Amino acid sequence: MDCHNAGLSVGMVPTMGALHAGHRSLIDRAVAENDRVVVTIFVNPAQFGPNEDFARYPRTMDADLAMLGAAGVHAAFVPSVETMYPPGLVTRLDIAGPLGSRLEGASRPGHFNGVALVVTKLLVAGLPHRAYFGQKDVQQCAVVCRLVRDLDIGVEIVVCPTIRDTDGLAISSRNRYLSPEDRVRATAIPSSLAMAIGRFEAGERDATALATTVRSCLENAGLDVEYVAVVRADDFTEVEKAAPTNQIVLAARIGSTRLIDVVRLGVDTAPVGGGV
Ligand code: PAJ
Repeated sequence: MDCHNAGLSVGMVPTMGALHAGHRSLIDRAVAENDRVVVTIFVNPAQFGPNEDFARYPRTMDADLAMLGAAGVHAAFVPSVETMYPPGLVTRLDIAGPLGSRLEGASRPGHFNGVALVVTKLLVAGLPHRAYFGQKDVQQCAVVCRLVRDLDIGVEIVVCPTIRDTDGLAISSRNRYLSPEDRVRATAIPSSLAMAIGRFEAGERDATALATTVRSCLENAGLDVEYVAVVRADDFTEVEKAAPTNQIVLAARIGSTRLIDVVRLGVDTAPVGGGV
């Protein structure tokens, strides 16, 4: 059916499958806010580096489709790599400046260019009124918000809160790589952010001090820290003096599993415990 001509609103939730409660929260919100909802499932090779986990990225299509049915989604778009990237495709997108090249962009060169290309193709293909993204991948949200403005794509980007397990760890498709012991060690991530929120709420404004609190907590738990930074939400430049709405972003490895997390200062409550 042509939803636009029929006057129906359309919501889109782009995913790479292996659907979990985090995805489900985006889907439920899209179902609540739109007449029709399409969920896309595509493990996008363009956003994985050569040494990343594209080949072993979890693929659980039967369970995913069952979840979409239960959630009341109207359509699933599950394209092949050839459909999205047919032979001869030469068009690329480049996210320039700090937004594309700092933090996640520095750790994963080319990652956001790959995200930008696939998200643009999905939005242009589906022309939804609204598209839903998770705050957990906050730099990705900033990239997507920027690209719809820069390319005049008339889609409203809706950013949804991070869904966490009861111990505070942000739910991620990659959590299933963790051994039971590493899963426990991973709780240092929400604990470290809770400590930083506690210090911010107690009056600490020095960004380096807040980042050091997080880094020490992660290192004490044996995690390999890739980055911890206090950044402005819109362009991902680092700040010296922390202020409400600035975000603490981090990436850390536990063995070969790479996890990211974020909290917004003055906005989010501590992800676990009392935030002391
Ligand atoms: P994927 O990792 O499958 O995530 C799909 C969407 O779910 C993203 O917007 C992500 O931020 C959101 N999400 C994941 N875990 C979440 C959680 N715990 N709470 C709330 N939202 C969560 O992100 C991608 O796929 C890809 O980069 C994609 C945008 C689909 C482009 O390929």
